[in-house]
Amino acid sequence: FGDGPLRGMRVLVSAGPTFEDIDPVRYLGNRSSGRMGYAVAAAAAAAGAEVCLVSGPVCLEKPVGVARRVDVRSAQQMLDAVLTEAPRSDIYIAAAAVGDYRPRAPAEHKMKKSDGQPLTLELTENPDILSTVAALAHPPFLVGFAAETRDVEAYARGKLERKKLDLIAANQVGVGMGFETEDNALTLIGPESSEKLPRCDKRELAQALIARIAAQFHARRNP
Ligand code: PMT
Repeated sequence: FGDGPLRGMRVLVSAGPTFEDIDPVRYLGNRSSGRMGYAVAAAAAAAGAEVCLVSGPVCLEKPVGVARRVDVRSAQQMLDAVLTEAPRSDIYIAAAAVGDYRPRAPAEHKMKKSDGQPLTLELTENPDILSTVAALAHPPFLVGFAAETRDVEAYARGKLERKKLDLIAANQVGVGMGFETEDNALTLIGPESSEKLPRCDKRELAQALIARIAAQFHARRNP
């Protein structure tokens, strides 16, 4: 693995959406192309890290330099893959748009229309992957993302505290913003810090993000 501020570090990145099956042909999903997370994985590899990328269903190739990609579909599968990797990771960056709920009982066969009657889907809450990793005996340095349509910084700060994160990268999402775009802007929030990373191509933004994460990770290790 190359030279750079993350040389010798193991970095775990989760990216893309999760799909929660309703029946064999339909699912509930979040809007995410995977571009942000894949750019973060590529930037971590370029900074010298050994990177494992846990990916929901996306149309992207494994970035150059990323050591391993583990493909998953649902939040539960993403949790299982992340829990396998997290204990041996130095840093976990959660850029995935994980479904908060899944259908309680997915149908075995394609559901049929019911003559104009309303259809009710019963949903069950998915486990929170970041909070589960934060509760490990020796959690990695934890970086979350927060996708919000309003009050971005306030909600992100709440997630930083509730999920026991070291840093959170907050982005405003909506039509043409945050997801499914080539560019993005982030506010990077720590327990006592806040920095705006202005809108630019996701690859460039990911490099700036990785530089900040590396600096704070090393500051934490060698205070
Ligand atoms: O993929 P792109 O099209 O490039 O879009 C990028 C993005 C907008 C998806 C990305 O920048 C982003 O914001 N990802 C996080 C989206 C999200 O689900 O945010 P959230 O605010 O709902 O979740 C907060 C954090 O908790 C996230 O780090 C998420 O991965 C994590 N989480 C959420 C739910 C859950 N059950 N487990 C989790 O670990």
